Amino acid sequence: MKIVVTGGAGFIGGNFIHYYLKAHPEDRVICIDKLTYAGNLSTLAPVMNNDKFRFVKADICDRETVFALFEEEQPDAVINFAAESHVDRSIEDPEVFLRTNILGTATLMDACRVFGNVRYHQVSTDEVYGDLPLNRPDLLFTENTPIHTSSPYSSSKAGADLLVQAYNRTYGLPVTISRCSNNYGPYHFPEKLIPLMIVNCLYDKPLPVYGEGLNVRDWLYVEDHCKAIDLIVRKGRIGEVYNVGGHNEMRNIDIVKLIIRELGKSEDLITYVTDRKGHDLRYAIDPTKIHEELGWLPETCFEEGIKKTIKWYLENRSWWEEIINGEYQHYYEKMYNNR
Ligand code: NAD
Ligand code: DAU
Repeated sequence: MKIVVTGGAGFIGGNFIHYYLKAHPEDRVICIDKLTYAGNLSTLAPVMNNDKFRFVKADICDRETVFALFEEEQPDAVINFAAESHVDRSIEDPEVFLRTNILGTATLMDACRVFGNVRYHQVSTDEVYGDLPLNRPDLLFTENTPIHTSSPYSSSKAGADLLVQAYNRTYGLPVTISRCSNNYGPYHFPEKLIPLMIVNCLYDKPLPVYGEGLNVRDWLYVEDHCKAIDLIVRKGRIGEVYNVGGHNEMRNIDIVKLIIRELGKSEDLITYVTDRKGHDLRYAIDPTKIHEELGWLPETCFEEGIKKTIKWYLENRSWWEEIINGEYQHYYEKMYNNR
């Protein structure tokens, strides 16, 4: 198989490329990434010399470049990870989210239509379902939960999902969609909760917890997500949505305290700051469908995954130090100073 992976210089796309080239050494992977602030070529350094891998710096909204690449490579499948992915940034500046997440998705699917009805997989998110109440642990997101978004980010992802389903119905494009819960693991950009807390802890900097830290997220080790996507692309039913999650709900404050403990720091570092606007209370995935249809189950429990993740950040300081010493400093000041 020859696959196009977009957003492969980012967190999940990068982990997917590493996983995929090991799992399917006979396949060829072409990565398209614009290298925005979230894209890091150093994430792909270990595979750059692999002759089954090609990196192309390009914007998924750039129709001419995307079409030329499809004409040249004639891929069998496309897996779209490329997106603007951070909720807080979408609250500050929604426009780029609409452009990349919606128009980029349409451009890729148009290329799929033109160059042989190529198999298309959309990497979506549980955030398209909105949130669940904190006091109803019996409620979970299923594939039939109505779309009901809270942030410009989740609205742009929901818009893309609707477009993917429309391309299937209108043009017969062979598509699938996965909606996953929060991922964690290596190569996670330090604007997100877990890597931000690890990095700040290591510098003894304040740990900014939004509101009271009681919001709940459902955490999945990134490699388990990669395996789920691989299964869906190979064996998933065309036109279907698959929820991906590992029944691992945790309150933000408990995650922060766990990281503090693992790194031997003090809880005095915790600083409660103004809450995120429109902050979703709780996400929780029901993964029954992917388990029953495709046999997928998460393999890494949170206790093991968080230890592996912290170890990775300790052993790969140069990867994240390069990020936090750059433009990130301005971002951090803007988002957190006087918050
Ligand atoms: P990320 O922000 O770490 O990486 C995004 C990548 O996309 C970067 O490499 C960036 O350079 C690239 N990109 C952005 N705009 C582009 C454009 N216009 N053209 C080409 N490349 C572009 O994101 P992530 O956390 O790895 O998320 C990947 C996907 O998974 C996203 O679609 C996101 O919505 C979805 N998702 C993420 C999570 C999570 O917990 N991180 C959970 C569920 C779903
Ligand atoms: O659920 C899947 C989604 O998970 C993905 O679609 C998104 O791309 C991904 O960014 C993530 O969204 P969240 O908003 O849940 O992740 P984030 O790491 O930004 O925040 C996790 C929780 O931690 C959330 O309740 C906000 C809180 N938080 C976050 C940061 C960055 C803090 O309390 N302090 C912080 O500094």
